[in-house]
Amino acid sequence: MNRIFSGMQPTRQLHLGNYLGALRNWVELQNSYECIFCVVDLHALTIDQDAEVLRNNIREVTAAYIAAGIDPEKNILFNQSFVPAHSELAWILSCHTPLGWLNRMTQFKEKAGKQKDMANLGLYSYPVLMAADILLYKATHVPVGEDQKQHLELARDIAGAFNRRYDTEFFPLPEPQILGEATRVMSLRDGTKKMSKSDESEYSRINMTDDADTIATKIRKAKTDPEPLPDTVADLEKRPEADNLVTIYAALSGQTREQTVQQFAGAQFSGFKAALVDLSVAKLAPMTTRMKELLDDKAEIDRLLRRGGERAAAIAETNLNGVKDIIGLLRP
Ligand code: TYM
Repeated sequence: MNRIFSGMQPTRQLHLGNYLGALRNWVELQNSYECIFCVVDLHALTIDQDAEVLRNNIREVTAAYIAAGIDPEKNILFNQSFVPAHSELAWILSCHTPLGWLNRMTQFKEKAGKQKDMANLGLYSYPVLMAADILLYKATHVPVGEDQKQHLELARDIAGAFNRRYDTEFFPLPEPQILGEATRVMSLRDGTKKMSKSDESEYSRINMTDDADTIATKIRKAKTDPEPLPDTVADLEKRPEADNLVTIYAALSGQTREQTVQQFAGAQFSGFKAALVDLSVAKLAPMTTRMKELLDDKAEIDRLLRRGGERAAAIAETNLNGVKDIIGLLRP
C-alpha cells in the first residue's frame, strides 16, 4: 500500500516556497494516495515560541492546508503533539541513530550558526523526530521541497538500520517526492538564498496571507538584473534572481520554465513583473480569503484537528506497538 506523510512547521506564516515546493503538490497527490498531513508543532519548539502565537499558528497552518485544497475528510489532517507516539518513537529511533549521521546534517549547521554549544538538543535531534513522523505511519512517499532531501535520506537510513538490526522489513524505506518546477524557491532579495520564514526581511518572501497590494509591492521590489529576459532557460544560469522569478511564474501558471521564458523572451523585467503580480494575486488571493473565513471559526478548526488526530493515533498506536514488540519493550 502506498501512503503519504508530510508536514509543515507552524513557525510564522507559510510562504510561497512552502506552497509551491510542497503544499500544491499535496493537493494533487491526495487524489492518488492515502495521505496524512501534519502540522508539526513539536518541531516548531526548536525555536523560542510565544504560547499564544504558536497556538494561533497551528490553526493558521491548518487553515492554509484546507484553503489550498486539502480535503480534511478524505485525508488525515492533524497536529503532531496530539499523538504522543511521535515523541515515543523518536526516542526509540534516537537510540538507533549514530551521532555521526546527525553531525552531517547541513540544516543543523546553518540554523545553529557559530554558537553550536548554545543550540538546543531538539534542534540537533530534529531529523530523528522527522523520521519518527514518517515511519510511525509506515509512509512510503514523502512530498517535500528540495531542502528536506537530506533529512529524508536520514529517515531512510534509520529505517534501514532498524530493519537490519532486528532482521525485519517492518519499516518501508520512504521515497522523497520532490515535484514540480519550484522545488527550491529563492529569496526575492537574494537569488542565492532560499525563501525562508526566518529571513529578517519581509520583502524576501511572499506570505500566503499577504494581500494584493503587499504581493505587488514585494514583487516590484524584488531584486533583478538590468538585462531583459533571455529566450532559453540555459541563459538564466548565472542570473539567480531572474531565474527565481521565472521559476515562480512557471510554477504558478502550470508551465515549464522553458515555456515561460519563450513567452516573455526579450521582455523587460518591469513588464514581466507586472504579469507576475497579476498571476500571483489571481492564484493566491482566493486562498487568502478562504483562510480568513476558516480562521473565523476556530472551534471548527480545533474539531477538525481533533478528529484527524484520533484517526492518526489509531494507526500510530498499532505501529508503535509493533515496534515495541520487535525491540522487546513489554506491554503488560
Ligand atoms: P518546513 O516547515 O520548513 O517547510 C514545509 C515544506 O515546505 C518546503 N519548503 C520549500 N520548498 C521550496 N522552496 C522553498 N524556499 C521552501 N521552503 C520550505 C519544505 O521542503 C517542506 O516540504 N522538517 C520539515 C517538516 C517536517 C516534515 C516531517 C516533512 C517534519 N516532519 C515529515 C515531511 C515529513 C520542515 O521543516 O519543513
